[in-house]
Amino acid sequence: MAGWRAADLIGRKRDGGALGEAELRWLVGAYLETLEGRSSAVSEAQMAAFLMAGVLRGFTEDEALALTWILVESGEVLDLSSLPGPTADKHSTGGVGDGTTLLVAPLLASAGVQLVKLSGRGLGHTGGTLDKLESIPGFRVDLEPGELLRVAAEVGCVVAAQTERLVPADKALYALRDVTGTVASTALIASSVMSKKLASGASVIVLDVKAGDGAFLPDATAAGELAELCVRIATGAGRACAALVTAMDQPLGTGIGNALEVAECVELLQEPPAGRLALIALELAAAALAMARGGSAAARESEREELVGRWERGEALEKLRAMVAAQGGDASVCDTPRKVLPRAPVVRAVPVGRAGVVTALPARAVGETAAVLGAGRARKDDPVDPAVGVQLHVEVGQAVEAGSPFVTVHARTDADAEAAAGRLLAVLDLGEDAVEPPPTLRRLVT
Ligand code: URA
Repeated sequence: MAGWRAADLIGRKRDGGALGEAELRWLVGAYLETLEGRSSAVSEAQMAAFLMAGVLRGFTEDEALALTWILVESGEVLDLSSLPGPTADKHSTGGVGDGTTLLVAPLLASAGVQLVKLSGRGLGHTGGTLDKLESIPGFRVDLEPGELLRVAAEVGCVVAAQTERLVPADKALYALRDVTGTVASTALIASSVMSKKLASGASVIVLDVKAGDGAFLPDATAAGELAELCVRIATGAGRACAALVTAMDQPLGTGIGNALEVAECVELLQEPPAGRLALIALELAAAALAMARGGSAAARESEREELVGRWERGEALEKLRAMVAAQGGDASVCDTPRKVLPRAPVVRAVPVGRAGVVTALPARAVGETAAVLGAGRARKDDPVDPAVGVQLHVEVGQAVEAGSPFVTVHARTDADAEAAAGRLLAVLDLGEDAVEPPPTLRRLVT
């Protein structure tokens, strides 16, 4: 056992100093041993104090890199080498109404790139892909590595739960960060996200780093720095990687809630691509496809055009259908999603009180409203209600008439619907003059 004391390392970070790789490795390792009851060298309180000191004082890039590898090496690494084609992975730093994975996965599969995506569940105001997919009757997200690879090889895309054996140290640290106000650190988010991506084994990684009120790092400059750090970590590890910095000031899609988001994605794939959610999905998939073919994400025009063609010919929808079937789900969700998916007993349209132009529809508040309805969870192990949520009918920049519905609330009870309607009316901001909607795609980092 090395001769470090947790209190000394915490004190150094509190005073703005940096830790070396061996010190970080000892700290994380001793914390995991403490959780397992095999040591008492680093308590939860000490790890929380260290994380808070780091959030306030910052971490160096060397610390972020070291932390990433310490997290990766805490568990198993997925071996995708048996798959025949190029492999890609995609990650979003967490958004509201953000079903991009449900579009990017089948789009890439339709173009011959295998997307193996290990996803998480929703937490707080942000949605999680696993919760969304589990709203499809029968859909299984707990796949053994053999089945994961079989579905990826046969279909071209697979979305499943991260196993306990992959990056266990990130799981432990993220759970602590979540309840100690220590998520919002560029280095901690980058090491957490990239450890999962490196352990998942894909050779191409595309990231969607959110900026805006609904993001973990609302400030666009900080989000840009996070994107740059993530890309440097990935390329340093020999992976092709690009990050899009995208707006999360208002929800990305129109459905917020598990079944509502699946229905929206299926309906989008049934028609030519339109709207902000489709746009971001296409940009992410085109960036990944360009890199998978050895090019740069910055020059992705022909890949975008190709993917639009595949989308319009229904190829991506067929890939989604095949993935749903391969993972045990009811594939007729791809024909009539709103019949197949669970529906809430109370569906109430909420009208605006006066005419105006939508100037704000804050993503965080809308996400929190859906979560309170039951679509999300306050604590990690809370159940979610697949049917409930919010369907938006407006976006920023749109003119609305007095009395026209701006959202439809899908709720379990009348009282829930009433409370959600009140919350949404309170956060909808209407102005008199036309406003230019801000761009959804802010920046590409390669
Ligand atoms: N998502 C992650 O996986 N980790 C973080 O730290 C933040 C968002």
